[in-house]
Amino acid sequence: MNEEQRLETNQIKNDPQANLDRLKKMDADELIGKYFQATYQPPNLKKAKKRLKKDVDIHYDYAIPEDMKGIGQGKKFLIRTYGCQMNEHDSEVMAGLLTDLGYQPTEETTEADVILLNTCAIRENAENRVFGEIGHLKPIKMENPDLIIGVCGCMSQEESVVNRILQKHPFVDMIFGTHNIHRLPQLLKEAMFSKEMVVEVWSKEGDIIENLPKVRKGNIKAWVNIMYGCDKFCTYCIVPYTRGKERSRLPEDIIEEVRHLAAQGYQEVTLLGQNVNAYGKDFEFEYGLGDLLDELRKIDIPRIRFTTSHPRDFDDRLIEVLAKGGNLLDHIHLPVQSGSSEVLRVMARRYTREDYLELVRKIRAAMPNATLTTDIIVGFPNETDEQFEETMTLMKEVGFEAAYTFIYSPREGTPAARWEDNIPMEVKKERLQRLNALVNEQSKASMKAYEGQIVDVLVEGESKKDPDVLSGYTERNKLVNFKAPKSVIGKIVPVKITKAKTWSLDGEFVENTVEV
Ligand code: SAH
Ligand code: SF4
Ligand code: F3S
Repeated sequence: MNEEQRLETNQIKNDPQANLDRLKKMDADELIGKYFQATYQPPNLKKAKKRLKKDVDIHYDYAIPEDMKGIGQGKKFLIRTYGCQMNEHDSEVMAGLLTDLGYQPTEETTEADVILLNTCAIRENAENRVFGEIGHLKPIKMENPDLIIGVCGCMSQEESVVNRILQKHPFVDMIFGTHNIHRLPQLLKEAMFSKEMVVEVWSKEGDIIENLPKVRKGNIKAWVNIMYGCDKFCTYCIVPYTRGKERSRLPEDIIEEVRHLAAQGYQEVTLLGQNVNAYGKDFEFEYGLGDLLDELRKIDIPRIRFTTSHPRDFDDRLIEVLAKGGNLLDHIHLPVQSGSSEVLRVMARRYTREDYLELVRKIRAAMPNATLTTDIIVGFPNETDEQFEETMTLMKEVGFEAAYTFIYSPREGTPAARWEDNIPMEVKKERLQRLNALVNEQSKASMKAYEGQIVDVLVEGESKKDPDVLSGYTERNKLVNFKAPKSVIGKIVPVKITKAKTWSLDGEFVENTVEV
């Protein structure tokens, strides 16, 4: 880059508004060629789809480079997280990296020296929210040109998103992908000193990077990744492209992490993966989620959950281990997506309505009290009224106690996005409304059954609405609000349920049973 280009680049960074019109006239390649030559490794969804037969590399050698130690001294960071638990946990890792560099956290955008948006690409409205937020950050960047704004997470894995940021939001300082999180220190340094937009998004299948620092949110519940990526390629879903191939962490690394959390006093861990039932399929030895849970249940930690299960890989060994109970909780989130076998076929879910019902029967036989919850998409291309009715009947037949329900959103690069999105929005909305009414009804009925019972609640803290009230979750993931001394926060305590609501329970603390 010559001096003239460097001056122009600086001008773009420091006076985004003045340059916007000029930038708009150029296409992305021109922009990149001219201004953004520092680190420019853009995403490629096609490449991200490849699944080669190659061993997963596991790296244990993470360390903050000498020359970067302390670069965050006296500075603050803010991370905004969108999307799933995986992203929540990635943000904890990024917070860990920034803390290692000397940065302190802040909640105020105006105080921050680094702002990261950890984004989600699952549906269009998720993306729109992020673009809205990027827009809000522009005046803050104008006020404070030294502020570093970074976009990361699943959206950064999409070409269209990177191009849009390059063209419309040139004040963003860096974009990095889900496979580049461990490179945050280097990328940050580059963004700080080069003044050019840094783009580093690897569209590869992915490695496993162990030993990254983490600053966890809270000291009661913890996320633990057991695997990364997804190879299911459901026809509507962007995740296999944004997160790479299925790759499992070694059992010993997971066991050590959970042991360590138990020793630190954590009360609950949630094992994370996009498809946790495929855990271990990439090993050369026979070992699955059932085997892992059978080892983890022996660790002295009161509660172990896992998410998300895919019905296709939910095997008998897992059911047998779950039936042992103890700290393995009997709540299973088992996304079904649709009650119609034909819709499931075109979604490439690889099971039928009957297969799903058979799996539910087996789970219930082994765990009679299990709570089942699910995810459902309405308005998939060509979904008929009859097919939607099959989703309604399945909802009832299984007796799901809660469901996350979504209107289908076409995702560029996925097979379904090439099909006509032919269900009118009013019909999609009407289906969603009817489904939600049923979900509410079933949730309410399941809550009602708890009235008068005493349940164990892991107390997480003050309720969001009223600081005099504490709240926490039961083993089967029901939210309970009740009054008790603050000293019970972080403990599992008995609460008598006095009133059931649609999505939560009110109760009374059963005193004298625990030391408070
Ligand atoms: N790995 C999990 C869920 C991942 S995404 C699983 O397989 O179940 C969470 C939920 O978002 C999915 O279960 C699905 O219901 C929904 N979802 C995914 N892609 C979507 C899309 N394109 N439009 C609408 N909902 C979608
Ligand atoms: Fe997406 Fe399907 Fe993978 Fe879940 S299993 S992340 S819905 S492709
Ligand atoms: Fe969203 Fe990526 Fe999670 S697309 S749901 S943040 S894996």
